Amino acid sequence: MIDGKKVLFSGMQATGNLTLGNYLGALKNWVSLSDEYLCFYSVVDMHSITVRQDPAVLRKRARSLLILYIAAGLDPEKNCLYYQSHVSGHAELSWILNCFTYMGELNRMTQFKDKASKHGDNINAGLFTYPVLMAADILLYQADVVPVGADQMQHLEITRDIAERFNNIYGDVFTIPEAYVGKVGARIMSLQDPSKKMSKSDENPNGGIYLMDDADTVMRKCKRAVTDSEGTFLYREEQPGLKNLIDIYSVCTGKTPDEVVQEFDGRGYGDFKMAVGEAVTSILNPLQKEAARLEKEKDYVDSIIKENAEKAGYYARKTLRKVQKKVGFPVRV
Ligand code: TYM
Repeated sequence: MIDGKKVLFSGMQATGNLTLGNYLGALKNWVSLSDEYLCFYSVVDMHSITVRQDPAVLRKRARSLLILYIAAGLDPEKNCLYYQSHVSGHAELSWILNCFTYMGELNRMTQFKDKASKHGDNINAGLFTYPVLMAADILLYQADVVPVGADQMQHLEITRDIAERFNNIYGDVFTIPEAYVGKVGARIMSLQDPSKKMSKSDENPNGGIYLMDDADTVMRKCKRAVTDSEGTFLYREEQPGLKNLIDIYSVCTGKTPDEVVQEFDGRGYGDFKMAVGEAVTSILNPLQKEAARLEKEKDYVDSIIKENAEKAGYYARKTLRKVQKKVGFPVRV
């Protein structure tokens, strides 16, 4: 709790092109929750360097991501939108939490195993302790709730475990956070292979819809989306391609999957794919326009970056000082 309000923390990596999965699984929920909570939304650039980055590209993407947060509807006066690397408390708390995290726990992380297999030439220690930095992000602000897609659940569980372990030793230091995962849209799958999540790093460009895709590209990708030869319009696991498209349409339009099935029952998949493309475009179009406008508002965006980093730093320091004292670091005089 800060000033009587519950706290929300979440973040996104500025790596690769953001996908519709990032938007529907996370960013959209961030906006809908932002009135209810005191919110910290970070561009987690420190997490990004666990995989080799071109510095100029990372810097540019980080800024565009922060702009996208605003373009998506997060008011920077009310929500704290900032770069993780601008608040040193993330790294400081991460070190302390490293000393309360077991190798065995980190070894079980599926995302680590997955990334290690993709980047075999660079399995660095940062990639391994990535979830500890994520725990530090969340616990630094005493977050009550963390809206994420389903793929981050394991990281949320380890965060809770680390926090509980620490509290058991030192008393109630950390708030134990809850994950917030949307009912529909928490796991948007690849349009080309519905057994894989839609991902920024998909080698097949037709698998993902990127937030900066224009209307023609979105339509083309939706038309080419893999479905099945059943010909029945049902929302079920046995038809994963169709189910994924129903999820996408459902989150974009606010209709339930059942309502979507009723609407399209008896019509061909082709018709439905067109409708999905239109629904997606109607979400992306205003987002892209607003992002393009803000990219030109240099002074305004700079001032947000500065003010919000200071605000985040203030709250981060409060927790950090408390933790440092608990573990026995000498008090500053
Ligand atoms: P990242 O950058 O991979 O993804 C950002 C958010 O998008 C969600 N997401 C999806 N949701 C539905 N369907 C998909 N196909 C899909 N792909 C991605 C993710 O679940 C996430 O919510 N480690 C995190 C970033 C992070 C973080 C944190 C998140 C760092 N610290 C603290 C929450 C709290 C990550 O790499 O997300």
